[in-house]
Amino acid sequence: SARPYVIDEMISAKAIAARIEALCREIHDEFDGTDKLVVVGLLRGSFVFIADLVRELDLPIEVDFLEASSYGDGMESSREVRILKDLRGAIEGRDVLVVEDIVDTGHTLNHVTRLLASRNPARLKSIALLDKPSRREVDFKADWTGFEIPDEFVVGYGIDFAQRNRNLPFIGKVRFIDGPA
Ligand code: PRP
Ligand code: MN
Ligand code: MG
Repeated sequence: SARPYVIDEMISAKAIAARIEALCREIHDEFDGTDKLVVVGLLRGSFVFIADLVRELDLPIEVDFLEASSYGDGMESSREVRILKDLRGAIEGRDVLVVEDIVDTGHTLNHVTRLLASRNPARLKSIALLDKPSRREVDFKADWTGFEIPDEFVVGYGIDFAQRNRNLPFIGKVRFIDGPA
């Protein structure tokens, strides 16, 4: 972005780690006994969350990725979800957990979970680290949510603004500051 901005910390790395521990206890209870859980990360935003999540999850799992994009480099959802890269493996008859960084308008997870459901998995659940319910345009709720947040433009922990700031270890909010026009 050409507009200058600063990033204010919103959710610390410590708070995220504590929430992931609690979420993993619930996920473990749901999938306890499974021998076939496939954890699916939606690229690119979920790459940090899925890495922390699977290392906290004491279950036999496989990891796969799917890339869907709606935002590109902009700040607005295009509302047209494109599948840029599909899963490597088949999920028919398998337990599947879809991992997402944020549910905003809901178009991305709504589209992806419908697509995956059409492949007849045994169980299909979803988890999003962040949820912005005030922005919802389609009726979608993840099975697990890390944090409900207000309508702020957030970055970090995998989430980008114009492809930057994904590597911040915390969730921050973008605050535009005055600068030369
Ligand atoms: C972002 C974010 C979610 C999606 C949420 O992805 O990572 O996947 O938008 O928005 P929605 O609920 O309005 O659909 P983006 O399309 O920017 O791709 P990226 O993960 O590669 O950054
Ligand atoms: Mn994404
Ligand atoms: Mg993005």
